[in-house]
Amino acid sequence: MGTFCSPALALRHEPDSIPEHSLTADPGCQPGSPLRSHAVLRAIFLYLSQATWAKDLIMRWGFSRRAATRFIAGERLEEALRAVSELNRRGLFATLDHLGEHVTTPDEARRAADDYLEIIDRICASGVRSNASLKLTQLGLGLDDDLCLDNLRRILRKAAACGVFVRVDMEDSSTVDRTLDFYRTLRDEGLHNTGLVIQAYLFRSQADVQSLLAAPTRIRLCKGAYREPAHIAFPRKADVDLNFDTLTAMLVDAALAHGAPPAAADGRIPALPAIASHDEKRINFAQRYAEQVGLPKPALEFQMLHGIRTDLQLALTRAGYPVRVYVPYGTHWYPYFMRRLAERPANVWFFLSNYLRG
Ligand code: FDA
Repeated sequence: MGTFCSPALALRHEPDSIPEHSLTADPGCQPGSPLRSHAVLRAIFLYLSQATWAKDLIMRWGFSRRAATRFIAGERLEEALRAVSELNRRGLFATLDHLGEHVTTPDEARRAADDYLEIIDRICASGVRSNASLKLTQLGLGLDDDLCLDNLRRILRKAAACGVFVRVDMEDSSTVDRTLDFYRTLRDEGLHNTGLVIQAYLFRSQADVQSLLAAPTRIRLCKGAYREPAHIAFPRKADVDLNFDTLTAMLVDAALAHGAPPAAADGRIPALPAIASHDEKRINFAQRYAEQVGLPKPALEFQMLHGIRTDLQLALTRAGYPVRVYVPYGTHWYPYFMRRLAERPANVWFFLSNYLRG
């Protein structure tokens, strides 16, 4: 290790994209260096994202809510639908996410599923060019796995009736096996309007992609946003990036082999590969590789988060790619907001400036 904080690599890597696990895994990280500071901040914010005491405290501060609005579309579905319409007007697709994770009672899990039924209804009735994304711990994973599977099944059946795709987000590594199992179970039941997320920081991801791609599978590829130990996830950013590109190539090849289906014009069904990153090098690699092997632009989707790199979102749309923006909304914005702060030190100063403004 020692790579993230070595002077040579500090020149080659943006300091704002170091994975949190580099903090513990990199003995060469010098106290006081900007890279070390970033790693420390990232570890702190990922810890805070899971700490109930911090959640209770931080959510009480008015300026936290104000700062969070940069990343969320509002607290109500109406507001999120307005944000989606605006994105659609600019040629972008969306995926709606009703924020929530780790529910603590079966009733909460059922209510979360009911909320998704409403989202599906509203997408179908309004005709917005959007689908939906959800988290399994929001539907009861870890609390009652059978209930979670039933909830997901209910949502997928309803969504299938009006041709809407539902993406299952990937959470921390303890949930990966069950997420893949649920996907396979429901696909075997004939529910094909769903897909998964693969995290490039996990050692296992190439093997997972290999086995999933035997059948056409809609996969969103991201770097990974959770705290993972060094025996599970690549500790070095350079390795995460390399793995991201390797996985991109695998997804692009598979899309070509499966006939290169384009993203649906009504915005409901994504292309088979969805490259979810704001990292221009990863995006450039995907574009170059797809061009080299002959995957048409409409069959290669890019995805980004609401409020981040709007300029890049629009540039890719203008270049002819489907671009989908992840639009989170709701009152449970705390862990999502903390993960966004963890990703980029500049966001922490943005948060503090909201505090100073009172
Ligand atoms: P990287 O972190 O290297 O950032 C590259 C550049 O992007 C930065 O230099 C900066 O300019 C900009 N940027 C990145 N994050 C920013 C931020 N928070 N604020 C401001 N600028 C920022 N993760 C997961 O574990 N499971 C999941 O299901 C998903 N789902 C998902 C959906 C979509 C549509 C996206 C875009 C991302 C996810 N993620 C996710 C999150 C993902 O794993 C990752 O944490 C973030 O996308 C940041 O990584 P980048 O690839 O953008 O690169």
